[in-house]
Amino acid sequence: MPINPHEFQSIVVLTGAGVSAESGIATFRDSGGLWEQHRVEEVASPAGFRRDPELVHRFYNLRRRQLIAEARPNPAHAALARFQRDFPGELLLVTQNVDHLHEEAGATRVVHMHGELLKQRCTRSGQVSDCREDLSTGSLCRCCQTPAPLRPHIVWFGETPLEMELIDRALASCDLFVAIGTSGHVYPAAGFVDAARAAGAKTVALNLEPSANSHCFDLQELGPASEVVPAFFTPNA
Ligand code: NAD
Ligand code: APR
Repeated sequence: MPINPHEFQSIVVLTGAGVSAESGIATFRDSGGLWEQHRVEEVASPAGFRRDPELVHRFYNLRRRQLIAEARPNPAHAALARFQRDFPGELLLVTQNVDHLHEEAGATRVVHMHGELLKQRCTRSGQVSDCREDLSTGSLCRCCQTPAPLRPHIVWFGETPLEMELIDRALASCDLFVAIGTSGHVYPAAGFVDAARAAGAKTVALNLEPSANSHCFDLQELGPASEVVPAFFTPNA
């Protein structure tokens, strides 16, 4: 059953690492993914940061440098930004990714539920600011009278994803939900499709291969994001 995104009024799009894979950013759970090379609890958890902050800074410094130096938006980012720009209804773009490729492609209203690699956060005040340089244990904030250590503005295992109230409100009133390039392993993002279905929305998965929750979707288009995303969002395709 074909689903034409132009026939809907309120759309929520969720993207995962797969939408940036063709921009050269490693995903997590594909072969060669990040979690094959790093122990998550060491580099992506509050305990890991307390135990060895320099190791965590090195992990993110490497990813930040690679992101700034090499990663550019691919046709999937461009097609999404173009569709959002011309779409007369509401479109909320929620990403689990911490890169800024959606914004670089021209997307607006991007919600980074797992944080942003190009931002840093004061460990005392929580204030967030831009970050394009390496961080280390010597990196201190400028927002507190007594400077406090900075951390990457990334949501780690066991921490609460950002902007969940906004996301839950959008899911409760959407009539189309599209998940792109995400394995469906990580909650709460993996449960967004259930919330959208409960609201009566049509649900579409655009992915390289079936995801862990692909049985929840009305329609699944398999293929590289740079092909299936433009094909799905191309005006009146
Ligand atoms: P993470 O693996 O620490 O997970 C962050 C979120 O995932 C947490 O909020 C948590 O809710 C949830 N989560 C995942 N598995 C969980 C579990 N088993 N139990 C509880 N919660 C769980 O994510 P991270 O620190 O954002 O990822 C590591 C680094 O790799 C980040 O810098 C990430 O951006 C980077 N990366 C980025 C991209 C991209 O931006 N395209 C792609 C791949 C990797
Ligand atoms: N086009 C489309 N999909 C792709 C492509 C591609 N070129 N390459 C890979 N994929 C798909 C894979 O098939 C997989 O389903 O993208 C998905 C990537 O899954 P993960 O590596 O698990 O990434 P993601 O789903 O974003 O992980 C969710 O887990 O560790 C946390 O915070 C981390 O945000 C991340 C969250």
